Amino acid sequence: MAKQKVTIIGAGNVGATTAQRIFDKGYADVVLIDILEGIPQGKSLDILESGPVVGSDSKIIGDNNYESSKNSDVIVITAGIARKPGMSRDDLLLTNMKIVGEVTKNVCSYSPNAILIVVSNPLDAMVQHAHKISKFPKQRVLGMAGILDTARFKSFLADELNVSVNSISAYVLGGHGDTMVPVIKSTTVGGVPISDLIPSKRLEEIVQRTRDGGAEIVGFLKTGSAYYAPSASIVQMVESILFDKKEILPCAAFLEGEYDINGLFVGVPIKIGKSGVEEIVTIELSSSEQKALKNSADSVKELTEIMYKND
Ligand code: LAC
Repeated sequence: MAKQKVTIIGAGNVGATTAQRIFDKGYADVVLIDILEGIPQGKSLDILESGPVVGSDSKIIGDNNYESSKNSDVIVITAGIARKPGMSRDDLLLTNMKIVGEVTKNVCSYSPNAILIVVSNPLDAMVQHAHKISKFPKQRVLGMAGILDTARFKSFLADELNVSVNSISAYVLGGHGDTMVPVIKSTTVGGVPISDLIPSKRLEEIVQRTRDGGAEIVGFLKTGSAYYAPSASIVQMVESILFDKKEILPCAAFLEGEYDINGLFVGVPIKIGKSGVEEIVTIELSSSEQKALKNSADSVKELTEIMYKND
């Protein structure tokens, strides 16, 4: 039986690391596309040649054209410029809007039934734009960010409490930006509410470090942004789709009234399976969290208004 096919647009650090992670597991064939001549080809060939060592028989090819992506099951869009120190994700808006619009149009024409995962920043606005350009139904367009933000939050909590990351249950919702909302009310460690374990002042510091998590990495790297945790987060979504796992994960999904948000992509818990977004899960929020989520949605809305102000 032919393997399922995952196309990744953008052979930078996030795209190439995602390609490598998927190739290593061996369950899907991978196509890596970038406009830079030779880069997707060279990186793909290098990954392919690791096959005998890592035990993967997957195929992986790199290309500057879209034909080779034909009939993909999942498309991951990472194309766009990354932040430099001092820049916010929002500073990338108009440049990445053009790039994401162009690649979405091209790649979706070859794979009209694929599920589209958008990763480019500013995330929530880019997924909104990809949805518009692709004309795909809302179930088949989703954005990766909540898993990453939640992973950062869980890593910091695990470190603070000296427990396994697997014993922490948490969600970071809202837009992938300064207004993201770590949901304290539903964060537990081994079933114990986090507020019983960490004093509120310290918890607030951990929340702030989570919000600044992307910038902390940019500050170290100087010439680019994070990619190990982002690519791991993408792969969790890809696997939930390919294996119809129906995992409930925080991702950007198109809301039509859920959480009192309408007509916008915002990070919320969703059930992901072979049809894409199979359910938007409503969790209970405190009134301040509900307000913070609304505020986060308002900042996403502002960005979409800037994108479409000349329409
Ligand atoms: C981050 C960037 C990739 O959060 O948005 O690391």
